[in-house]
Amino acid sequence: MSEAATARGGSTAAAVAGAVSPRVVLEARHLRKVYRSHAGELVILSDVNFTLTEGEIAAIVAPSGAGKSTLLHLLAALDTPTNGTVYFSAKPLEVSDDAALASYRNRAVGFVWQRHHLLPDFSAAENVALPLLIRGERLDEALRRSHEWLAQVGLAERASHRAGELSGGEQRRVAIARALVTGPSLLQADEPTGDLDEQNAVAVFGLIERLHRAHRLTSLIATHNHALAARCDRVMGLEHGVLRPVGRREADWPGANPEGEAS
Ligand SMILES: Nc1ncnc2c1ncn2[C@@H]1O[C@H](COP(=O)(O)OP(=O)(O)OP(=O)(O)O)[C@@H](O)[C@H]1O
Ligand SMILES: [Mg+2]
Repeated sequence: MSEAATARGGSTAAAVAGAVSPRVVLEARHLRKVYRSHAGELVILSDVNFTLTEGEIAAIVAPSGAGKSTLLHLLAALDTPTNGTVYFSAKPLEVSDDAALASYRNRAVGFVWQRHHLLPDFSAAENVALPLLIRGERLDEALRRSHEWLAQVGLAERASHRAGELSGGEQRRVAIARALVTGPSLLQADEPTGDLDEQNAVAVFGLIERLHRAHRLTSLIATHNHALAARCDRVMGLEHGVLRPVGRREADWPGANPEGEAS
């Protein structure tokens, strides 16, 4: 085969390989998180390894205190690991300077906090506009996009309500709109259905699934709710500081409740 033909064959093979192997968006290698206190060392994450590929929606299930929030904070660069590395699009976060990390947090990742952290005296629209204002967008443009996103989460009619006056389910929706208004490619949600009754939990989870598909996101969701986690492409369990794939049988999951009760 001529050199040119080899090159053509090579690039075709690469194109085919590219078509069948999805791009790794997020990767953790040997992540370790240790808190030090007067009482001694507390090892929360001992050796976490995983990859998340483009377009995937994956769940982390684990009992309270297992380290789900700790892990998500490391993956979103909201905290730093004791050891190990997080890679976003194959680039290690640890070598990023402050500006690159700020851009990762504000542009690449949409983060839904466990305790949603809305500003209660500000309107829903103002809360959603805030990340855009932080990155320097004009107020009118930020509010226009904020209203668009509130419509996407089904809250167009609540835009001017103060966040503190919204129901728990509505506050979750505002927090989801705020996480996605900046157009991130990666969504991380820390117990987005926590504290909601089953009907609202199913509705909010369904909303996340719809937004995940509509905006071609890559999503990682920490949850206690086994039934909702099982709807994801992949489920991982966090136990004794290690993340491992688990099956869809609830009985296999860390902290599984034999009665199958969602907590
Ligand atoms: N800053 C800190 N200093 C010391 N210990 C901490 C700190 N932050 C978290 N921890 C401890 O780390 C452990 C894991 O906490 P984390 O919030 O990650 O758990 P979780 O799985 O998210 O729990 P939940 O389901 O209740 O939200 C807990 O035992 C917690 O007390
Ligand atoms: Mg948590």
